[in-house]
Amino acid sequence: MIRSVVRGTGAALPRRIMKNADFEGMVETSDEWIAQRTGIRQRHIAGDDETTASLGEAAARAALDDAGLTPSDIDLIVLATSTPNNTFPATAVEIQNRLGMHHGFAFDLQAVCSGFVYAVTTADLYIRGGLARRVLVIGSETFSRILDWNDRSTCVLFGDGAGAIVLEAGEGTGAIADRGVLAASLRSDGAHKDKLFVDGGPSTTGTVGHLRMEGREVFKHAVGMITDVIEATFTQAGISADDLDWFVPHQANKRIIDASAKKLGIAEQKVVVTVDMHGNTSAASVPLALSVAITDGRIKKGDLVLLEAMGGGFTWGAVLVRW
Ligand code: ACO
Repeated sequence: MIRSVVRGTGAALPRRIMKNADFEGMVETSDEWIAQRTGIRQRHIAGDDETTASLGEAAARAALDDAGLTPSDIDLIVLATSTPNNTFPATAVEIQNRLGMHHGFAFDLQAVCSGFVYAVTTADLYIRGGLARRVLVIGSETFSRILDWNDRSTCVLFGDGAGAIVLEAGEGTGAIADRGVLAASLRSDGAHKDKLFVDGGPSTTGTVGHLRMEGREVFKHAVGMITDVIEATFTQAGISADDLDWFVPHQANKRIIDASAKKLGIAEQKVVVTVDMHGNTSAASVPLALSVAITDGRIKKGDLVLLEAMGGGFTWGAVLVRW
């Protein structure tokens, strides 16, 4: 059977780093409050010349280099983002053009923080369906552009960045020992749409709008939703938490990550945490965390890796990959 195997990974971060202490004086907050409640210590913020397209392009080029491939080898680009360069065309098409790629096809996918998990699942189906052989899956965001910088309850939480992987069709036997995407479970429930949203858009206000969030409400639902979808993925694959080598969760809040891992019985040393360095980069958070854990030698070929995310919508999901 066809399996979608990870062939390369890459990441890109804006030049400017903003520390928690940099918010003191802007809004009523402190390094201590932010670090204690969220685990965040710093985030990267895009400069005027850095966009979702430019960061996505840089991450894509890094992933292609890592894979030993060029844009001519790619059939499809799936970009997960909620902060596109323009309302249309899709920023994926802009990245395609920046890469000098004039064949194949490209589209954006919008599932807020769950975007990368949705995009990997989508790319896997295109590969297994025979419509593409190699897919660039990118998560790229510039949430700094939709933050209300006067709202201390949200502006301290998010950052900008991009991560990418190349998925390639490979041969598998259907067993859990296969390399590639092994199982996935996706969920959404629009009943929660007002708990985390942007208060603008082309069809309503005609403006871009700002991010609004009932943080306590999001927190209340997060752990239950995350653990449900992961348990569904475990059942699908016929594995338990003990079989995992690495857990790479969406990096929104260290307390949510710790509580989810504990409830699932995933050992602390298997959890990849980068929220301290990047803040919440929405669809970029999982591929950025992956890139860190691959670069520092933790995630190796053959490891069983669980990706998970939850975000606005609400949307949530998990993907199990043998690296
Ligand atoms: N600095 C200082 N005080 C603050 C700040 C701040 N930056 N922000 C809020 N406060 C205050 C509040 O006003 C409140 O004050 P009050 O008690 O006088 O009313 C107090 O701190 C406590 O506020 P809570 O909201 O109850 O704080 P909580 O412990 O819940 O932490 C947080 C807030 C960090 C937002 C938490 O609720 C959280 O992480 N929620 C989940 C958010 C999340 O993960 N979002 C991303 C989802 S993914 C996506 O799709 C984008």
